[in-house]
Amino acid sequence: MPGGKLLLPESERLVFRAWEEKDWPFFAAMNAHPRVMRFFPAVMTEEESRSMWNRMRAELDEKGYGLYAVESKASGGLIGLMGFHWADFEADFTPCVEIGWRLVPEAWGHGYATEGAVACLEHGFSRLGFDRVYSFTACVNLPSQVVMRRAGMKKRGEFNHPKVAPDSVLYPHVLYMSETPGK
Ligand SMILES: CC(C)(COP(=O)(O)OP(=O)(O)OC[C@H]1O[C@@H](n2cnc3c(N)ncnc32)[C@H](O)[C@@H]1OP(=O)(O)O)[C@@H](O)C(=O)NCCC(=O)NCCS
Repeated sequence: MPGGKLLLPESERLVFRAWEEKDWPFFAAMNAHPRVMRFFPAVMTEEESRSMWNRMRAELDEKGYGLYAVESKASGGLIGLMGFHWADFEADFTPCVEIGWRLVPEAWGHGYATEGAVACLEHGFSRLGFDRVYSFTACVNLPSQVVMRRAGMKKRGEFNHPKVAPDSVLYPHVLYMSETPGK
């Protein structure tokens, strides 16, 4: 889509948009929050967040999809990130489009992640032309798997994430997938 207008998912209670400079403090603080990063190897340093920030914004610019900034309409404030990523690490289902989510704890327990996942999948299939969208998380990350199932994704198996240390509890992952409706 380089140079074109960014098409965005839409949902009843959420706004999806591109990241703006003013969002940086929110993004860095979310990634440094121990509860948010409970199922990741560690909280993210400011340098790691900056590198993800740059990659995330470049993907939105270059591919026309990516991890969107998400606001709640009720508060008008940011609640996290949701959307797509082109996953190209070594695995038997990659490269592929991945869907993911990360919300601040104040936004948990309202159904926002599930609502956002449904809206993103709908957007991905109907407007972005995806055939398949995958999602994966550490086996121990049960809240994320509930979102996958509530969004209608089906479990396809398990795998060991090649970017996680083999002795980590986060090494075994579950793999979920959704296909174009009707397939
Ligand atoms: C994964 C994550 C987004 C899930 O958040 P969540 O709040 O559990 O999920 P949802 O937003 O779909 O909310 C579902 C809950 O809201 C409740 N809820 C309240 N109001 C609701 C409404 N109007 N509609 C739907 N559900 C509602 C549901 O009953 C459910 O509660 P339950 O889990 O006690 O049954 C969140 O835990 C998170 O950001 N974690 C940190 C980052 C992370 O691990 N990301 C995934 C990495 S792969």
